[in-house]
Amino acid sequence: MSRTRTDDDTGPAAYDAAPFVPEDAGLDALRRAAAGCRGCPLYEDATQTVFGQGDADARVLLVGEQPGDQEDRAGEPFVGPAGRLLDRALEEAGIDRDRAYVTNAVKHFKFTVPERGKRRIHKAPTLREAKACRPWLTAELARVRPEVVVALGATAGKALLGGSFRVSRDRGVLLDLPSDPDGPRVLATLHPSAILRADDREAAYAGFLTDLKAAAKALRGAP
Ligand code: URA
Repeated sequence: MSRTRTDDDTGPAAYDAAPFVPEDAGLDALRRAAAGCRGCPLYEDATQTVFGQGDADARVLLVGEQPGDQEDRAGEPFVGPAGRLLDRALEEAGIDRDRAYVTNAVKHFKFTVPERGKRRIHKAPTLREAKACRPWLTAELARVRPEVVVALGATAGKALLGGSFRVSRDRGVLLDLPSDPDGPRVLATLHPSAILRADDREAAYAGFLTDLKAAAKALRGAP
């Protein structure tokens, strides 16, 4: 048995971050407002909101799923094992993380605590939680105005491209962002954690790198 307060996806209360998102705010003001977000119950157990970080004028914006255990403690996205793998791949693909903006589809860590254990075990956010958090991502996209958005894994892909998104089918190609067809192009790929878990890590990493190189090529304006 394990516990989590947000297993029930069918409750009557609407989950929605929109009332917490200030209009026309810059990234710093958005980050401060997100610290007080109560748009869904995930804030109750998480240590803090983990808002996006990076270059406010970035040409590339990367979106993960949700902060993990280390990110929840540090208050920064992608600083744990998945982040280290991402850093290595970005460098190999020729994308400078310092000049990118990195965020997550869901801004709070969702986890379960097994009854006898102490470790917090990552639990995937529900579609309802991801939808509730989307106004923060929308605001980040509007402020940063990147040319290319990289969706890391299924949660980010669905948040950006809609519920029918499938990583296996839709990865590695430049797609329009349905909410802003004249805006950035979206390129989806695996989540770095999926590579760490893969049976054939080398092959998974190679595919990830190919996708990130396609994003880097798009940034260089190559056809
Ligand atoms: N996984 C994510 O999706 N995001 C993080 O910030 C860390 C791990």
